Amino acid sequence: MTAEPSGTASHARILGIGAYRPSVVVPNSDIVGRIDSSDEWVQQRSGIKERRWAAPEETARSMGVAAAEQALVRAGLDARQIDCVVVATISHFMQTPALATLIAHDLGTEQPAAFDISAACAGFSHGIALANDLVRGGSARHVLVIGVERLSEITDPDDRGSAFIFADGAGAAIVGPSRTPGIFPVVWGSDGEQYDLIRQRDDWRDVITSETPSMPYLQMQGNAVFRWASFAMAKVGLQALDRAGITVDELDCFVPHQANMRITDAMARSMKLPDTVRIARDIAEQGNTSAASIPLALDRMYADGEARTGDHALLIAFGAGLAYAAQVVVLP
Ligand SMILES: CC(C)(COP(=O)(O)OP(=O)(O)OC[C@H]1O[C@@H](n2cnc3c(N)ncnc32)[C@H](O)[C@@H]1OP(=O)(O)O)[C@@H](O)C(=O)NCCC(=O)NCCS
Repeated sequence: MTAEPSGTASHARILGIGAYRPSVVVPNSDIVGRIDSSDEWVQQRSGIKERRWAAPEETARSMGVAAAEQALVRAGLDARQIDCVVVATISHFMQTPALATLIAHDLGTEQPAAFDISAACAGFSHGIALANDLVRGGSARHVLVIGVERLSEITDPDDRGSAFIFADGAGAAIVGPSRTPGIFPVVWGSDGEQYDLIRQRDDWRDVITSETPSMPYLQMQGNAVFRWASFAMAKVGLQALDRAGITVDELDCFVPHQANMRITDAMARSMKLPDTVRIARDIAEQGNTSAASIPLALDRMYADGEARTGDHALLIAFGAGLAYAAQVVVLP
């Protein structure tokens, strides 16, 4: 059993971030032939030049563990200090038990609370919001939040609207107590009326009774998703800044879910972000990794010198559901 968390904390913050990029680099030229498209079209419409896909041995479990190990090192913590593990994923194909339990075990944690959350591309920011409240409420002292996806398995290679978008990878963050505010209030919500805009094409029961069973691919009404994300999410971002008590001029980094470069640009324009705000553009080389995209994008910003300790970063995650969550965090 893990030690009892030692009471409530005034504040929480992210103590370390980790990432894992799988090994297979897939350029647009490998994808476009099957969907009657071109490298130029894909780059212009999505900003994606290439994406990372997992090799067979790079499972959601192994990628999640690798990202978590890096986050632990960067946070200066031992796995035994983690008392809660939250995994955001839509590509763990065992409905139960949770992937979080396996990852917690592989890491050498001491039987912490461990559970998965299903909020698709909004999963990582949901996890950070939960972790903030768990630490501040005294339910956990150190929470490991992982976003991990292996979307290449559920991407239809013949679907012109999505074959070039989705990718694989993992990112992680450790959230722990802090003397000063490090995670500001979340702005979040969902719209079940728009359930069909992005979703798994078939129910598992339809898959197994089909005469030609195949993985239940993701399907998406790209244009409607594009319009929703570009306009509604900019308002959510401004609300999150407001709840953190900062203006766009005080913001250092903007790290939206890496859905599409044009959505990122439209949000930045609509929020009137000044040129001083550094913007995550990981999608160009990584593709859209759903719940993993924000920590992966942050990791690249650190590597490129665009994110620094103490920076205020606005995270906005959004996707199927239509679920979204946004918050300002102080970077570790
Ligand atoms: C998928 C996406 C790039 C498609 O771009 P779009 O401009 O909306 O494309 P549309 O479906 O309206 O089609 C526009 C034209 O491009 C063509 N087209 C569609 N897909 C194409 C492809 N892969 N290659 C070449 N042409 C394509 C269509 O046939 C259509 O041609 P027409 O005007 O001659 O009829 C865009 O909708 C998008 O990025 N949406 C958001 C997706 C996303 O980010 N999802 C993740 C959210 S978590």
